[in-house]
Amino acid sequence: MSNYHIKHLEEYYQVYRKSVRNPEAFWEEIAEEHFLWRKKWDNVLSWDFKKPEIKWFEGAKLNITENCIDRHLATRGDKTAILFEPNDPNEEAQHITYKELYKRVNKLANVLKDNGIKKGDRVCIYLPMIPELAVSLLACARIGAIHSVVFAGFSSTALATRINDSDCKLVITSDGSYRGKKTIDLKGIVDEALDDCSGVNTVLVVNRINSEISMKEGRDQWLQPLLDKASESLTATVMDAEDPLFILYTSGSTGTPKGMVHTTGGYMVYSAYTFKNVFQYKEDDIYWCTADIGWITGHSYIVYGPLANGATTVMFEGVPSYPDYGRFWDIVEKHKITQFYTAPTAIRALAKEGVEHVEKHDLSSLKVLGTVGEPINEEAWHWYDDNIGKKNSPIVDTWWQTETGGIMITPIPFSTPTKPTYATLPFIGIQPALMDEKGKEIKGNQTDGRLCIKFPWPSIARTIWGNHQRYKDTYFSAYENMYFTGDGALRDEVGYYRITGRVDDVIIVSGHNLGTAPIEDAINEHPAVSESAIVGFPHDVKGNALYGYVILKETGESRNHDNLRKEINQIITEQIGPIAKLDKIQFTNGLPKTRSGKIMRRILRKIASKDTSNLGDTSTLLNPECVQDIMDNVL
Ligand code: PRX
Repeated sequence: MSNYHIKHLEEYYQVYRKSVRNPEAFWEEIAEEHFLWRKKWDNVLSWDFKKPEIKWFEGAKLNITENCIDRHLATRGDKTAILFEPNDPNEEAQHITYKELYKRVNKLANVLKDNGIKKGDRVCIYLPMIPELAVSLLACARIGAIHSVVFAGFSSTALATRINDSDCKLVITSDGSYRGKKTIDLKGIVDEALDDCSGVNTVLVVNRINSEISMKEGRDQWLQPLLDKASESLTATVMDAEDPLFILYTSGSTGTPKGMVHTTGGYMVYSAYTFKNVFQYKEDDIYWCTADIGWITGHSYIVYGPLANGATTVMFEGVPSYPDYGRFWDIVEKHKITQFYTAPTAIRALAKEGVEHVEKHDLSSLKVLGTVGEPINEEAWHWYDDNIGKKNSPIVDTWWQTETGGIMITPIPFSTPTKPTYATLPFIGIQPALMDEKGKEIKGNQTDGRLCIKFPWPSIARTIWGNHQRYKDTYFSAYENMYFTGDGALRDEVGYYRITGRVDDVIIVSGHNLGTAPIEDAINEHPAVSESAIVGFPHDVKGNALYGYVILKETGESRNHDNLRKEINQIITEQIGPIAKLDKIQFTNGLPKTRSGKIMRRILRKIASKDTSNLGDTSTLLNPECVQDIMDNVL
């Protein structure tokens, strides 16, 4: 019997030991007993972090949608699979049963096929949080097309970059989206993006907001009439366990975004197994993750993990502040949510508005609370524990990444005693290591270092789309035979991990991963800008906010600085999206550089954080004099 459901701490330790002593045997048992395979694997695992090459369940055949939908039809056909809560609280929620989901996925998969999409083709999905979004992922997976979801808050330039990088042939979008009181013209953004994407020959448009939009003849089609004509049945395409399931872009510290490639079998097993245990999901629970499906959290813990367990998963279209700051708690009460999974930035934003929004609602259905995306500060942790969980629902602080595909370090609720700000213990099968800067592993507890993982787990990303060398350089070159996460962490006296933040040039703003390089590139496009450097500084709600140091060209110096600030943020909004806007922009005459010309961001970070007590050694700088000047004019 496999250990699919862990129920107490002793069992966790016992299963953990088993999973690291013989990972192949452990995962084979889980895979065999809890999933539907058309053919079993020839080999459970082969791996080589030097190449790097990782293969799980090689030779196995399956379709993930048969695991997420078909196999539940007989026993849970009338159970709600997706519970959709619209932006407007007066619009009725939709309960989409497993049977209905089956039909909707098949219909869309047939439409994709009719439009020439075959196994291995890439489909870009740019949709708001409406049921069609989840259905689109599953429809692609049903026919073996590789989905690439782009978060619908990204700009047309960012969308075009992602479409071109993975050569998408077809885009699924909507006429627009609702966001609180506002509507957003998504189709307009897609049209602009596609001016630069010659490979896209079909755009399927969901009618969400009933707006007048322009449709390009021969390229754009309304989706509904096509669905009305499409058949409800379709045989799922048989996939190899190692066939790509999706590409999802994440920011790197340099260059273009990285298209992380996740494959089918291992991703399915790990996302489902973590979902079951980290949320202690039981048959009649109503689980809600507030993330957008445009991020990995939504892929693994709104769509694939929950559906593979036959769960009811909530999709919320709106924002936490509309029609008021009690909306989340209103939804918890209305749908009797049992597991609630959100981001620290949302907790901080809601805590700021006061407990009166919480107190109006009955939250007694809640059993487990979760957080993800960035370190949670102690104050936010306690607010969540006191006011939402009423000290009665364990908080799972889950650490993981787009690259890891599933949760890696986390408490198991009702088993692992929690500790504020600590993600606590490695999940089953995960072997963390803390490394020093020289590449040596730091053993023992009460220490800190750079967080690495020693052994592959089933849902590790297999490559970066079109750039395997970058995959190797980013994750497998810093430390020999280790996956390097880019995060720093400390380990306490009992072996609990606390993630301290990024050690590279990625900044996490409101839980969104932003690389400094693309933002600096955008700023430098302003005709008055000669050079720029971005750093993060602490922010009450966002966790980090962005601080820009900008050197102007002579032509820019006489211009009004507030106007320049607006123009710079406008360029960033156009190139990346509003999430990357700078909170503060300081104009300066110089940036501290090493003799090799590298900007010393460490110094800039300290100045922006108003922590100049110990700037470290500045004597090795090429231009130490600029440091005082920057300090004198800090915003
Ligand atoms: O720095 C860590 C932070 O988010 C990064 C991964 O971002 P992304 O790929 O966008 O995925 C976010 C959702 C899984 C990590 O390298 N991070 C994520 N979860 C936590 C966290 N930092 C601290 N505590 C967490 N629980």
